[in-house]
Amino acid sequence: MDLKWNNAYPGVWTFQTGEPELTLTGVAGRKPSSHLIQLDEMECPENLTCDVFGKYTVIRIPLTDDDRVFGSGLMFQKVITDNQAYHLRVDHFAGMEVGNSHAPVPFVAVSNGIGLLCNTPEKVDFYIRTAHRKEDKERIVEHDRASDGNWSCYNPPYFIEIAVQSSDVEFVLFRGKNIKDCVARFNLYCGGGFIPPKWGFGLWHRTNMTMNENDVQGVVEDYRKHDFPLSVIGLEPGWQSGSYPCTYDWSEKNFPNAEKMIRNFLKDGIRVNLWENPCISERSSVYKKLYPYAGSHLLWCGIVPDYTLPEVRTILKDHHKTTHFAKGVSGYKLDESDGYDKWLWPDHAQFPSGLSGFVFRNLCGLLFQRITYELYHEQDQRTYGLTRSTNAGGVGFPYILYNDRYDFKEFVTGLCSCGFTGALWCPEVRGAKTVSEWIRRFQLLAISPMLLLNAWANYATPWMFPEAEETIRETVKLRESLLPYFYTAFAKYHFEGIPPYRPLFMDYGLFLNANKATLGELDDTANPYQEVQTTDIKDQFIVGESLMAAPLEPETTSRKVIFPPGKWFDFHTGKQVVENGGVIEIFCGEHDPMPLFAPDGAIVPVKVDGSLQVKKFGTKPGKYMLYDDDGETFAYERGEYHWTELLV
Ligand code: GAL
Repeated sequence: MDLKWNNAYPGVWTFQTGEPELTLTGVAGRKPSSHLIQLDEMECPENLTCDVFGKYTVIRIPLTDDDRVFGSGLMFQKVITDNQAYHLRVDHFAGMEVGNSHAPVPFVAVSNGIGLLCNTPEKVDFYIRTAHRKEDKERIVEHDRASDGNWSCYNPPYFIEIAVQSSDVEFVLFRGKNIKDCVARFNLYCGGGFIPPKWGFGLWHRTNMTMNENDVQGVVEDYRKHDFPLSVIGLEPGWQSGSYPCTYDWSEKNFPNAEKMIRNFLKDGIRVNLWENPCISERSSVYKKLYPYAGSHLLWCGIVPDYTLPEVRTILKDHHKTTHFAKGVSGYKLDESDGYDKWLWPDHAQFPSGLSGFVFRNLCGLLFQRITYELYHEQDQRTYGLTRSTNAGGVGFPYILYNDRYDFKEFVTGLCSCGFTGALWCPEVRGAKTVSEWIRRFQLLAISPMLLLNAWANYATPWMFPEAEETIRETVKLRESLLPYFYTAFAKYHFEGIPPYRPLFMDYGLFLNANKATLGELDDTANPYQEVQTTDIKDQFIVGESLMAAPLEPETTSRKVIFPPGKWFDFHTGKQVVENGGVIEIFCGEHDPMPLFAPDGAIVPVKVDGSLQVKKFGTKPGKYMLYDDDGETFAYERGEYHWTELLV
């Protein structure tokens, strides 16, 4: 088929097969950011091919041996996604990187600066260097397994092959000057990132789900006594008159004076955030209105309304406005829109708009965010919250992903990989078995998008290990001091599309053999097919303009850190650590702050005792644009913000 790309914006082209009814960005209701037009024009890559056969539309992106591929959804075990097939599907991550994801965003980016979004809620399969075609035979070299030491199951095809199960698809092609620029164009096409309210950067505590009004007030009081600056209190399912399924109505028994409680908290600068999931109980005051618009199957005995219908969005928005927003609620945690299969509606479920259960599942979290985001936007108040699923188009929704797993390594890799998804990841803290684990988890959290202690099932508090209380307090202070730096990072997400959390590859390209795929070692249990090994960097990331975080795992006091080329400095002491990149072992005592490094020339604004200070590293001249605005309304969308140039 002839692939004719239409130039939509500089470095952005679209192409359609058939007549797609829904696109992910369209469902999200977001328009491309106007900042796209300021970017440099790029030449359109002409070497992609597309075929439609049966119910599949298949598009191929050529690769060279040296290219590396990123994206195809939020990952927890890898950042480089080569040599694997991914069958994308909204689902709770089940521990295997095969496409089940909280953010199965159908976007890939190649190290050469080319990216592709399949802008569709239909089923998408990515075959990254795994789909061989017989006409590509000259590229395939046969080896005999028994006699040839070079045998590998891996014989890299020079393609990403993407199959969409629909003949009506919109594709969006991106080309940047490098992979970071490509991702930035993708984010801007999806509307540009969000800027959280300033209060969103403070300390969040989600209370035990059995707690009533008095208990919650007790938690807030304890924070005051322990001198921990609480910013948001999150109420889990028990705030409602029924859950699960949800009523979205206040429990008269447990929260008889909800509004009074919230208003009193607000006087002390503490916001209230409410937990919800998508299933609605017969006992809810909106049940009757929503019943006709619900899908064919139940979720935890409750109906699931079809959010793609404007009537549904209006009913839900009105209810949330009068029952929560008008009482002072500041936002939501939108839970369980992601699966698991065993409790979600089946793929063949039918929704009144005509969507299948599979497609609705791909959109549910996205639309859940849209409804609540639009409610706050209409009131000119920023919100900030959590969601357990999202998709392309959600980049401008102020929600952070989380899940029920608790693997430290996965949490770090989530922060690396989210940069390629237009979504952000929260390594929430729930509990710990040891002091070391408590400290290491808080340290990671303190440089993440949300400082969230989720005590929904326990009674954890930041001071629950007395011997670590001071260290945790210092960790929270470090985050507070970095507010101007974090806030500017989010402004760049919004205005320039640069993700605030990025793997090293995004800023520094392929280095340290990352473009080398080495033959795997035969091992009859660990690697029976001698699968190829690629050097991935998935336990370090860049946060904001230039800082590199190298989190330490629980129970460790040293680790290897990979430094990209150039001089690097210890953020805390200002001392030089390496002269020109490389790999070194660093040491970090149990109560020492988490290793953060700054490159030569880096400028980092920090807030100390209420006043702004500027840290400058190394001898290279540096320039930094510091952002600020009112911190809580959408006035910045009306031009009310300012950038201050810091020049050394
Ligand atoms: C889980 C969620 C937890 C908590 C719990 C309440 O799905 O991941 O954080 O909110 O529901 O039932």
